[in-house]
Formats: sequence, structure tokens, C-alpha cells
Amino acid sequence: MNKTRKILLIVSGGIAAYKTLSLIRLLRENEFQVRVVMTKAAEQFVTPLSLASLSEDKVYTDLFSLTDEAEMGHIQLSRDADLLLVVPASADLMSKMANGMCNDLASTVLLATDKPVMIAPAMNVRMWHHPATQDNFAKLKSRDVKVIGPVEGVMACGEYGLGRMVEPEEILEVVKTHFEEVANSKQPLLIGRKVLVTSGPTHEPIDPVRYIANRSSGRQGHAIATALQKAGAEVTLVSGPTRLADPVGVKVIHVESACAMLDACQENGRFDVAVFAAAVADWRVKNAGAQKTKKENGKLPVLEFAENPDILKTVSNAGNDRPELVVGFAAETENVVEYASAKRIRKSCDWILANDVSPETGTFGGEKNSIHFIHSAGVESWEEMSKQAVAERLVEKVVAYFNG
Ligand code: CTP
Repeated sequence: MNKTRKILLIVSGGIAAYKTLSLIRLLRENEFQVRVVMTKAAEQFVTPLSLASLSEDKVYTDLFSLTDEAEMGHIQLSRDADLLLVVPASADLMSKMANGMCNDLASTVLLATDKPVMIAPAMNVRMWHHPATQDNFAKLKSRDVKVIGPVEGVMACGEYGLGRMVEPEEILEVVKTHFEEVANSKQPLLIGRKVLVTSGPTHEPIDPVRYIANRSSGRQGHAIATALQKAGAEVTLVSGPTRLADPVGVKVIHVESACAMLDACQENGRFDVAVFAAAVADWRVKNAGAQKTKKENGKLPVLEFAENPDILKTVSNAGNDRPELVVGFAAETENVVEYASAKRIRKSCDWILANDVSPETGTFGGEKNSIHFIHSAGVESWEEMSKQAVAERLVEKVVAYFNG
């Protein structure tokens, strides 16, 4: 059995529930592994025994059954599958899903899952058109639940209209397409590539309790680390202090100051790609105190500054240790492209992602970025987009660089 094609079929109450019998047969003929959860209402339309016989597995019905929990808890049930398929999806179950209710096994599994969910609604035409159902439908779609159908036709109750469930053959096709898309998107584009990313601000100590910082949130650098990891790269993220969670699957080294950030970049091996998204402080306090500075009868402390190492420039000029592709950022408040193009040459990096950080743009510490992508052959100006979208666009460029 192909382990990447496990379907958890959730059957809710409705006359169309009998069609799940042929759906299970079709899915299994196409080498999908099917495990069934059914609601109490579904048991009025199709028996657990027939579903168990066709799926050749136990059918799960009860949230609080000790036997079921001993064999497989509801969390594990939802996580063990690659896809959750709700057929038929009654108005009641759609409403529970849309509103996060979880008072039986089916709704609890749907709330606990981190896997893609597809639903095939089936209900009376008036129930389907009711604003409550339409609101639930819109909510589910906005959360990336894939809705298959319903279609128009004669209903079991004799009325005609939209609300009939799509046929099992059509559901099978949608499921097959979904798995094909997953297989295509999982191409290990940057497998084996070692990537370094810096992110966040640095904190430069004044004394053991005070520091100088900047407003960088680290969102852009962390999004880049996540996107590179998803593309298969082996990512090391050197992060200044942020409020963000460590990205999953990424080696994260937490540092405070610019000097510590440079050390971490140099001490963690050789990289194929390095992306410098950190907002590194340009200066550190030369006369930082070893003890907390005390107030002395109105005498004001005088801070002396020393220039911090330029991490990007140092790594770009590291000779044999230079990563093949070095990417910097440029934060500018005026003459963005001109200053950033000069910065690319001054810092010997291959690409610069320049952004306007003047206060009116809200870029620094904010959600969005408008980037000018500067390389040796010119400038591409990207439309304003989320930091995640910038990260994904950059990863596309990195993939194209290595894979042509
Ligand atoms: N950078 C770095 N180390 C520093 C300063 C900056 O690695 N000490 C990196 C940043 O991570 C970014 C790029 O250099 O990728 C440009 O940063 P930016 O703040 O725009 O430029 P600065 O070098 O600080 O120049 P200026 O402040 O004069 O604009």
C-alpha cells in the first residue's frame, strides 16, 4: 500500500451516505487506503458493518469509546491520514466545521487535523441556499477546505435544485488530481543545498541591563528560512532577538549582538547560499559597562561607539569559503534603487532585495514589503506583497539559479 495516499473518510448523515459504499470501492481500486469515521446520524443511512467490510478496517464512531481511544485517539486518527474527505457533508457537519464545534468524533477529528480537507455537500436545495449554509460554505472555502459540488438535480425528497451530492466517480477524480498536485509540488528542488539565513535585529549592550536595538521584527528573514526549508534546503537560521517561534525543521542559532551574529555565520560550516535579512546594528557601544551604570548626581553617561563588522560584506569576501550565491537586503528611505545598486557592488553580493523603509511605508516591523530585486543584469520591481510571498518569490529565484 502506498503510504502517502491515506484517506480518512468522514461520513455524515444524509441519504447520499449510501454512495460512500461505491466511493470506498473506487478509492481502494485506485490504491488509496481508506479509514472511515461516521457520525451517529450517518448510521441511520448506512451501517458501520458495510463500511467496515468495504474498507477492510475498523469503522470509528464514538469519541469517548475506550476501545477506539486505545487503538487510535482522535488526534492520531486525524494526523495519520494524508487527506480528510467528508462525504456526504451534511448542513449540520458543515456548520460545526465552520464554527469550530467538536461534540462528536467526526467534528473533533476535523478540528484537530493539520491535513487538507475536502467536502462533498449533500442537502435539500433550500438548506443549501439558506444564508447560514452559504456563510458556512464561504468560511470553509476561505480556510482552504476544498468543496466538491453540490450539483443540480432531483433530491431524495422530490424537490429539484442545487444540493445533490456529486457522484463517487467525480469525487475520485478530484482526489486523484489532489494527490498528483501534491506529488508534483514535492519535488525536492533544493535538496542537499546548505543555506544560511540571518534574521531579526541585533541588540548592542550598553551595560548588562540596557541595550540599543532597532524595530526589525524578523518576519522577513524567518519567512525566507521557512520557504527555503520547504523547498528542501538544509537551513541554518542565525537570528537576533525576535518574538517569533523557531521555524520547524530549521537549525536556529540565537544571538544578540552583531559580533555574535558574525561568529555564528562563520562557525557553522560552508554554505551554498547565504541570505542576509537581519537588520544588523551598524555600531556597538565601545565603552559598554560590565556593571549596571548608576545615576551620578545628574551626570549624564556618554556612549562611545565602535563600528560593527559588516557580516554580509565579510561573508561575500570570504574567498574559498564564500557561498556560491550571496543575497543581501537594503533598507533605504530615499533613492532606493540607486543606493541599493551601489550597496550590491560595495558589499560584493550577487543579489540585493531593496526595500523602502521610510516610516510611511510601514515596512519595518510590518506585514508587507515592496521589493526591488537587483542583480548584475538589472532591476525587477515586484508588486507589494506579504513577507511570505516575498520569501516564496526569492526561493523561486534561488531554485531557478541552481536548476536552470
Ligand atoms: N548587514 C550586515 N552586517 C552589518 C550591516 C548590514 O550583514 N553590520 C547586511 C544586512 O543584513 C543587509 C545588508 O547588509 O543584508 C544591507 O543592510 P543595510 O542596513 O541596508 O545597509 P548598511 O550596510 O547598514 O548601510 P547604510 O546603513 O549606510 O544604508
